[in-house]
Amino acid sequence: MSTIDPIADPAADAAVRGDDRSHVFHSWSAQALIDPLPVAGGEGATFWDYAGNRYLDFSSQLVNLNLGHQHPDLVAAIQEQAGRLATIQPSMANDTRGELARRISEIAPDGFSKVFFTNAGADANENAVRIARLVTGKRKVLAMYRSYHGNTSTAITLTGDPRRWANEPADASVVHFFGPYAYRSPFHADSPEQEAERGLAHLEQTIILEGASTIGAIIIESVVGTNGVLIPPPGYLQGVRELCDRYGIVYIADEVMVGFGRLGTWWGFENFDVVPDLITFAKGVNSGYVPLGGVVISDRIAAHFDTVSFPGGLTYSGHPLACAPGVATFEVFRRDGILERVRDLGERVVRPRLEQMAARHPSVGEVRGLGLFWAIELVRDRRSREPLVPFNASGADAAPMAAFAAACKKAGLWPFTHFNRVHVAPPLIISEDDLVRGLDVIDRALEVTDAEVAS
Ligand SMILES: Cc1ncc(COP(=O)(O)O)c(C=O)c1O
Repeated sequence: MSTIDPIADPAADAAVRGDDRSHVFHSWSAQALIDPLPVAGGEGATFWDYAGNRYLDFSSQLVNLNLGHQHPDLVAAIQEQAGRLATIQPSMANDTRGELARRISEIAPDGFSKVFFTNAGADANENAVRIARLVTGKRKVLAMYRSYHGNTSTAITLTGDPRRWANEPADASVVHFFGPYAYRSPFHADSPEQEAERGLAHLEQTIILEGASTIGAIIIESVVGTNGVLIPPPGYLQGVRELCDRYGIVYIADEVMVGFGRLGTWWGFENFDVVPDLITFAKGVNSGYVPLGGVVISDRIAAHFDTVSFPGGLTYSGHPLACAPGVATFEVFRRDGILERVRDLGERVVRPRLEQMAARHPSVGEVRGLGLFWAIELVRDRRSREPLVPFNASGADAAPMAAFAAACKKAGLWPFTHFNRVHVAPPLIISEDDLVRGLDVIDRALEVTDAEVAS
């Protein structure tokens, strides 16, 4: 737990709030209906406001803060780089950028030696799709419903959640399909095996009916993140790999949220014994201390651009101030055994505790997850599985989830909630004591949602 004891500073609170409300135009919001929390500081798994309240960060901000707030090694790496060479344009070679690219290719599967750096996750996906289109000469891209891939034109069109709706049509060459979701099976399956088999049959039908000769790529979050922590059933991603091989389609693994340790492995797809063609990353690569994303490119695909120019670029591709904390991230992971501790805490502490909650709270329909990435799916009725709040609920419809979040915040925990789910995604460096303390808060706050359950 952070040892800093925040003190209330009402004047600073008012000043920060005032500038924010007057001048900052916020993401995904009706500007007059929001009340952003002014944050004064953070350390490790905790941050605090100007009113003297501390919060245990159980959402790692936007599931990017894998090494926690103000990690001294990451901060020092940025400071050292800033003192030496704060920026350099991308067509020149740079030691820090080159080292990070090498380190990323070392943890990638065999046959992935090249990294194209972007500013974030959306443009990583945007460029992965561009690469796939150029290499295959085919334009169409298949993406899942219940997915998020970012906020640029193609990335938001790939997105299979309501954030896409107001942005349509942006890229006419995207088609959505249903991915596996055993708890609410779109295929009426009653086992994970059946879910995988029927999900693959549905995907193959989609490929055939859309025309394999028109499809350049399929993009899949290795574990669907914001849209539910959906763990693919055994064999599903391997089946996707086979379909991509059979029909000449590039398999893009979106690892923006699960890459860099969230599941206790470097990459999410490692858990499913599959190797994609392109890997996109962002968030955890440097915990978001400076914006950074990228595409790891298989040698087979990279070879296409050996003598043909890649028609894309960004002023800040591989920015040294972003790459420096990326290099430091590798050192911290190795020295502190981050992957091992994530696997250990996930299985020894989180899984059993969430399973106990599922047994004890009538509003919990299912818990699922891996490493330090879990979902608690809340329902009104365990038998019918009616969600506690409707899909995409807002305002009064979302009140039970808002009440749950308020109870957590009152008890000093900042939760991640989405539709009818609570996600557990703390920084990977969280102490075991803090992890247990946070789970205690969630356990108690579930009494609020239990009160909504039909008796
Ligand atoms: C799976 C996934 N892909 C892509 C993105 C987009 O990343 P960014 O917001 O860095 O553009 C996100 C962001 O949450 C994500 O979770």
